Amino acid sequence: MAWLADEADLAGFRQHARASLAAGVAPSQLVWRVASHDTPDLFDGPVGTTAPPATDPDAPPIQVPAFFVPLAAQAGLHADSKRFGLLYRLLWRLVHEPALRHDPLDADRQQAEALARAVRRDMHKMKAFVRFRPLAQATTGQHGQDRQGPQHVAWFEPEHHIVDATAPFFARRFAQMRWAILTPRRCVRWDGQALHFSPGADRSDAPPADAAEQLWLTYYASIFNPARLKLAMMQKEMPRRYWKNLPEAVLIQPLAAGAAQRERTMVEQPAQEPARRRPAASSALVLAARPVPMHAPGTLAALRQATERCRACPIGQHATQAVHGEGPAQARLMLVGEQPGEREDLQGRPFVGPAGQLLDRALAQLGWPRDRLYLTNAVKHFKHELRGKRRLHKTPAQQEAEACLQWLEGEIALLQPQAAIALGATAARALLGRPVAVLAERGQWFTRPDGLRVLVTLHPAALLRSEGGDPALAYQRWVADLALAAPDAPG
Ligand code: URA
Repeated sequence: MAWLADEADLAGFRQHARASLAAGVAPSQLVWRVASHDTPDLFDGPVGTTAPPATDPDAPPIQVPAFFVPLAAQAGLHADSKRFGLLYRLLWRLVHEPALRHDPLDADRQQAEALARAVRRDMHKMKAFVRFRPLAQATTGQHGQDRQGPQHVAWFEPEHHIVDATAPFFARRFAQMRWAILTPRRCVRWDGQALHFSPGADRSDAPPADAAEQLWLTYYASIFNPARLKLAMMQKEMPRRYWKNLPEAVLIQPLAAGAAQRERTMVEQPAQEPARRRPAASSALVLAARPVPMHAPGTLAALRQATERCRACPIGQHATQAVHGEGPAQARLMLVGEQPGEREDLQGRPFVGPAGQLLDRALAQLGWPRDRLYLTNAVKHFKHELRGKRRLHKTPAQQEAEACLQWLEGEIALLQPQAAIALGATAARALLGRPVAVLAERGQWFTRPDGLRVLVTLHPAALLRSEGGDPALAYQRWVADLALAAPDAPG
């Protein structure tokens, strides 16, 4: 019997699994239980007496393929009570049946991947659909209540055990706010410094709607465009099960019902003269006024259209076009560069200039077909300065990279790749949300709170620029860095 402390006790799972594997405990002999809700029965023995079997300190370490660790970290959060048994069986089989590593169609592997996908989807929905409401007493501060308590509280009902794994996303995004997210099984609170977890709550513990919410509904109704209504698509992106906790959902039915009539009225109206174009606001103002979108458009095509129109920073005004990511929507591996260069800007495709040629050479050497990868950039427009007639590449400012982050995150949310390679510091910072010392951290994997694994390495342009040293050796070292992602790359 392997007892885990709670539903999201992945560390406990790892510990038990490692020790049981080393002790030769077959999957059929091991029963997984969760202490927080399984009641021990007569034959279980008391909780806690079933510590993992002792491991031989001299035993060789267990080698598992790289894909298993993130897979277990995600699938282990699924609500299916058989998940730990499945993951242990898969682990056991990966160790005892080496051919399984190369069999992505194996039924256990497929099942674990389906669980992981459902968990990733649930995390994505939580990021998109959590709606904070202000807590009245925290804003007024009357009655001497605890001024350190949350100012904003949200109620959410995730399908899986994802609160711990998703909370760091909210801590980063709403770092300046004090907030709490209540769910039926687990709650989390951010006090501006640290996350605190506690048992589940009741819906009635969350605050009711307030005046600001009414304002939001008015805004939502006024931006609703009946000609754009795609009900099936909308329900796919915003499944009905989330509606009961989304304030704007009450408007969907009435707005949808009147959409056809409103569209006819719009079409029948006479054309209007275009208003004179206003001079662009300064970049600082534009950035300050930028609303942070809570969720990205629901398809790559919609995301591209929105990216094309983006003026959240000034770069877009001076570029020929936005350069979107390129590759199949099912790509498992995403390569992220800094920003398009001059050639990319003119052709509207990523990595087609000199840096792209070097990347192509490396991909050919690795045997990774380019058209089965997803290539994109942290910043979607070409930033440059004019020298006579020449447009010289300029590194995007951090504010500009941040303004563009929504599009990269939108691509990640839609593609849900298994892994990403950050090519250079701008990409690494965008993906990991912190400054990255590429030379010190190259060749290392990092796992984001949403489970995406990120491998850091140099940008190909850095190799083209490299002065001193042996360029051939630098190139081979870079290819060796990239090769670390081979298990995630198309074969
Ligand atoms: N450099 C990048 O980072 N991206 C491109 O698309 C081209 C050059």
